[in-house]
Amino acid sequence: MYFEFIIFVFIAFFGTTYCLICSLKSWRNPAKLPPGPRGIPLFGYLPFLGTIPCKTVAQLSKKWGPIFTLKLGQFPVVFINDYQKMKELYKLETTTGRAHLPLFEKRGVFGLGLLEGEDWREVRKFLLRCLRDSGFGKRSMEGSIQEEVSQTINFIRKNLHKPMYLKPLIEVAVINALWFLMTSEKYDIEDPTKKKVADVLSEGLSDQNIVGIATFLPWLAKLIPNYSGYAKALKYFGAPEELATDIVQKHVKSYDPGNERDFIDQAMSKIYATTDESSMFYKDVGMKNLHYTLIDLFFAGSDTMSSSLGWALLYLSMWPDKQAKVHREIDAEIGRSRIPSIEDRGRMPYMESTMAEVMRFSTMVPFGLLHKSLEDIEFEGYSFPKGTLFLANLYHVFKDEEYWVDPNNFRPERFLSSDGKFKRDERLIPFFIGKRTCIGESLAMIEFFLFLTRLLQHFRFELSPDEPVPHIGPRSGFILPPPKHKLVIFERGQ
Ligand code: HEM
Repeated sequence: MYFEFIIFVFIAFFGTTYCLICSLKSWRNPAKLPPGPRGIPLFGYLPFLGTIPCKTVAQLSKKWGPIFTLKLGQFPVVFINDYQKMKELYKLETTTGRAHLPLFEKRGVFGLGLLEGEDWREVRKFLLRCLRDSGFGKRSMEGSIQEEVSQTINFIRKNLHKPMYLKPLIEVAVINALWFLMTSEKYDIEDPTKKKVADVLSEGLSDQNIVGIATFLPWLAKLIPNYSGYAKALKYFGAPEELATDIVQKHVKSYDPGNERDFIDQAMSKIYATTDESSMFYKDVGMKNLHYTLIDLFFAGSDTMSSSLGWALLYLSMWPDKQAKVHREIDAEIGRSRIPSIEDRGRMPYMESTMAEVMRFSTMVPFGLLHKSLEDIEFEGYSFPKGTLFLANLYHVFKDEEYWVDPNNFRPERFLSSDGKFKRDERLIPFFIGKRTCIGESLAMIEFFLFLTRLLQHFRFELSPDEPVPHIGPRSGFILPPPKHKLVIFERGQ
């Protein structure tokens, strides 16, 4: 016993010293990357990122320039703060890699969100094609979204004139629309598995910092899983596993070749037809990629969409003059009784500008996702070795005073030309930039338009007079939903 104890102390002492020396070495010289502030051994700059990392990183760029490195835990991460540099860097094939974080150890490298190189291209190409065919950006999607909006409207009508927390209602509607597209099944919220998933999602990852311990100090995160957010992240990412398994099983049983109903059926016919053993659709590998791609779509398309709508209704309640302008445009172009359709979008520049301003002002995904270099890269005089991690500070791009002049004002008019037309701005990149942008952009914008236009066609939204005005500034987090708040809703009448 005593002998074992001595061995344990011996190993612990030398192990810790070895780790400290390694960490000290790399802390001093993180692979000759662009310079940045040092931080402290073992933790790097993590403890100094503060409560609003995107703001801290933006401030650091004033001193260290648009590209600098922060050692976060055990990983050096290169931060890009400038739009032009992002445009140049992310158009390279070699920056489309993904960080394979310990959080996803159990999953392995499967599914669109984590694949890289040729494997990623194969799955992405297929997904884009078959989702486009089954309604991505096309009219056939419209019906299922409209049904969800109708149900939301019916629910709101029963709860007029009293302060109401809209988030759960919007979340269910958004998940339903997406679930139907992927599985041709209604997402029955009373089903216990689905309820469990909805609850975990609803708890959110808002306090799960993409630049936090769970991501960059995995050994520590595992030692203190509850404090570090590791346990919560595992629970969150693990939640839809059972759901995806069940729905794929159901499709395997009912699969009817030549009669593909939805995304899962189309993926299965591709899997059954694939004979190339190196393909991402071959047999078990194909089924694993289908499973995790479903989960990726589910995650990527639910929180982001419900947050966009949540932010839009909150901002329009805080700035009633902007809401009145949207109301006027809806009345002029659609009236109060006809159901808005996708075709109306092109005739509604104020609505389009409002949606753009919501995306800019909320900066919902402040750092995008981690990218990794797949080869050694020479860029702007720096050498990035294969495996370098990159984060783009979209917050800095969207709140750049030199470019937007008054970035902290909610002002949809900034996206209108002098003759009142919608003016696209290349710096508005909520869906990211370059080769690995969001695959759901067109669906997201259609859904955003249909929900928002129809809700505002029928209702007027006001802040609850009984509650303090919610804090709408940036926070730490991976996807930023609006803060918890209640709105009071009034019918506009026919
Ligand atoms: C307002 C809504 C949305 C926003 C702001 C948004 C934003 C983003 C961003 C910033 C990325 C990271 C790109 C990167 O750095 O690699 C991303 C990736 C992704 N998004 Fe979205 N997204 C939205 C809606 C959706 C929807 C509705 C879907 C699908 C149904 C979706 C599916 C995906 C997928 C699958 C990826 C990973 C793509 C890849 O790795 O190749 N997103 N999104």
